[in-house]
Amino acid sequence: MNTTTTVNEFAGNAVTKLCGVRYPIFLAGMAAISGPKLVAAVANAGGMGTIGGLRLPPLALRRWLRETKELTDKPFGVNLVPSFGGPDVFEAQFQVVLQERPRMLSLFYAEHYPRMIARAKDAGMIVMVQVGSVELARQAIAHGADIITAQGSESGGHLNRGTIGLLSLLPALIDVADGRPVLAAGGITNRDDVRTVMRMGAGGVLAGTAFVACEESNAHPLYKQKIVDATVDDTEYRTGYSFGWKYGTPHRVIPNRDKWNLLRFMGGGARAIDKPKMAQKLSLYAGQGVGKIDRVMSAAERVEELAKGLADERERDADGGFEGLQLRYA
Ligand SMILES: Cc1cc2nc3c(=O)[nH]c(=O)nc-3n(C[C@H](O)[C@H](O)[C@H](O)COP(=O)(O)O)c2cc1C
Repeated sequence: MNTTTTVNEFAGNAVTKLCGVRYPIFLAGMAAISGPKLVAAVANAGGMGTIGGLRLPPLALRRWLRETKELTDKPFGVNLVPSFGGPDVFEAQFQVVLQERPRMLSLFYAEHYPRMIARAKDAGMIVMVQVGSVELARQAIAHGADIITAQGSESGGHLNRGTIGLLSLLPALIDVADGRPVLAAGGITNRDDVRTVMRMGAGGVLAGTAFVACEESNAHPLYKQKIVDATVDDTEYRTGYSFGWKYGTPHRVIPNRDKWNLLRFMGGGARAIDKPKMAQKLSLYAGQGVGKIDRVMSAAERVEELAKGLADERERDADGGFEGLQLRYA
């Protein structure tokens, strides 16, 4: 075995052991978009699916967690954004999570709620925190995060800081993570992206936009098509209004440029249940990886494509290709 292989396997294995999944490939917990069907499809394909819990009232959150359990017997997670609805809303959601106890709690914009990390860990969950700066990573580690996700400025949706590109952020967070796995996020769509960040020492990857354009996602068909049609030039970093978030929170969208359309100013994630008119007019959350997404596929196909990047090419030649890789991550 060469050195690269050992580093890759070690890094990936830490995450797979912690989370009990086959591949260190994470679906972002995207509000409204990452529902039970998508989460279960990713989990059944060997990745870590994550329910998008943001905005979900406690009863609906419980329903989504239970529906997911019916669709898969594999581990999965849930994402919450504590700063979004205020302490009472968050506590009500958190109580449901403690009762239903999925394998992983994923947190975003969580720096003012440090006790949640210890409470989730006491309940037996793994806690992942997504951040976009060294300062935020240090805080999350001090509060006990098991896994850190480096959110590069390429990322779609909301950004926590959002000013540092993944190539620079990832090594900086690995440096301060003190051996904890660091996932790479932002523009991850295919095997080449995965291979690149694993070689840099990532413990795994987290992808959002690439899974929006999957058959099982709750995104409106027009939204999926916009992602397929978009080129790398087509996303924009914004700090204006985005549905319920504090004004000024940075986010990345495919903008809508129609001059007379007020919805063009709003970042959003049009869902399958939304009217086509709305889906057509909204600016849509998406990351810079859009230029590498050329069709809608099943989530299993997307996980398989990403998993192929976990193997170094020489290793694949030597160990029997993708089947060999599956065995090693089994
Ligand atoms: C449609 C969409 C919705 C998102 N919603 C959330 C969310 O609710 N919570 C969260 O922590 N991150 C959310 N994100 C950000 C992701 O966690 C992640 O940082 C991002 O998708 C990674 O970049 P990529 O889209 O280029 O893969 C969202 C991203 C997208 C594209």
